[in-house]
Amino acid sequence: MAETTCSLCQGTEWVLEETDSGAVAKRCKCFHERENEILFDQAQIPKRYKHCTFKNFEEHNDSHSDALKIAKKFVKNYPVQDIGLLFQGPCGVGKTHLAVAIIHELIKKKNIPCYFCDFRNLIRNIQSTYTPDSPLTESEVLEPVFQKEVLILDELGAKRTTAWVEETVFYIINHRYNNKKVTVFTSNYIDSGEAEEDMRDQRFKRTDDSLVDRIGVRLRSRIYEMCKIVEIAGDDYRRKIKQAGYRF
Ligand SMILES: Nc1ncnc2c1ncn2[C@@H]1O[C@H](COP(=O)(O)OP(=O)(O)OP(=O)(O)O)[C@@H](O)[C@H]1O
Ligand SMILES: [Mg+2]
Ligand SMILES: [Zn+2]
Repeated sequence: MAETTCSLCQGTEWVLEETDSGAVAKRCKCFHERENEILFDQAQIPKRYKHCTFKNFEEHNDSHSDALKIAKKFVKNYPVQDIGLLFQGPCGVGKTHLAVAIIHELIKKKNIPCYFCDFRNLIRNIQSTYTPDSPLTESEVLEPVFQKEVLILDELGAKRTTAWVEETVFYIINHRYNNKKVTVFTSNYIDSGEAEEDMRDQRFKRTDDSLVDRIGVRLRSRIYEMCKIVEIAGDDYRRKIKQAGYRF
C-alpha cells in the first residue's frame, strides 16, 4: 500500500506548537500512531483476538463486571503498581479477551511493549529449538518472553508439565519476576479447595487436575506471589455466538 505523507508534518514527524513562551517542536500525531502500530505488530496478538477491547467486553454477570474493573484498574495503575493478574475460569468466559484488551490499552494509552504468548506454543517452540535443523535458537525464542515489559501467558497449564517444562517455565517466570516485569496469565485450572468446590458447576475443565497438578507447586506458589487472582464465571460465550448464528 502506498504511504501517504502526513499533511500535519509533511513527513518530518515533528510539528510546532504555540506556547506562552513561543513555538515548541513536538512529536506529530502520526509519529505516535506509527509507534502504536509497531507495538501492536510486535505484540503478536492472534488474529482471532485482535478485535478484543474493554469496550466490546460484555458484562453478563458480577464476575464479568469485577474482572473488567480489575483489568481497567491494572492498566490505569501500571507501572506504578506492578503486580500481574491471573484470570481463572471455565472455557469461553472471556479470559483471553480481557488479557488481549489489556494489551490494547497498555499500547494505546502508555506505549508499553507487550507480548502475547500461548503456553503450549511456547513449550513447543522451545522444544523445537533442540532439533539440529531448527532455524531458531532457544535464546531467540525466549528473547521477547524475557524482555517485553508485559507478557500475556495464555492457557497456563494447558499442557501437562514434565520436570523439564516445570523447570523451564519456572526459569522464565522467575526471570521476569526478578526483573520486575509484569505477567498476565489465563488458566482453565483452579486450585483444589473451596474455590474449586464453588466453581465445579461452572464447567471448569472436566478433570481431576487442579492448577498445582498441571504446573507444579513451585510455579503455582511463585505465580500467586506475582499476581492478583481474578475468577471469571459464566456461560461459554462461544456457544452463545454459535446459537446467534455467527460463524468463526
Ligand atoms: N464477556 C464477553 N464479552 C464479549 N465477548 C466475549 C465475552 N466473553 C467471551 N467473548 C468472546 O468469546 C470468544 C471466546 O472468549 P475467550 O477466548 O476470551 O474465552 P476464554 O475464557 O479465554 O476461553 P478458554 O478457556 O477456552 O481459553 C472470544 O471471541 C471472545 O471475544
Ligand atoms: Mg482463552
Ligand atoms: Zn505527521
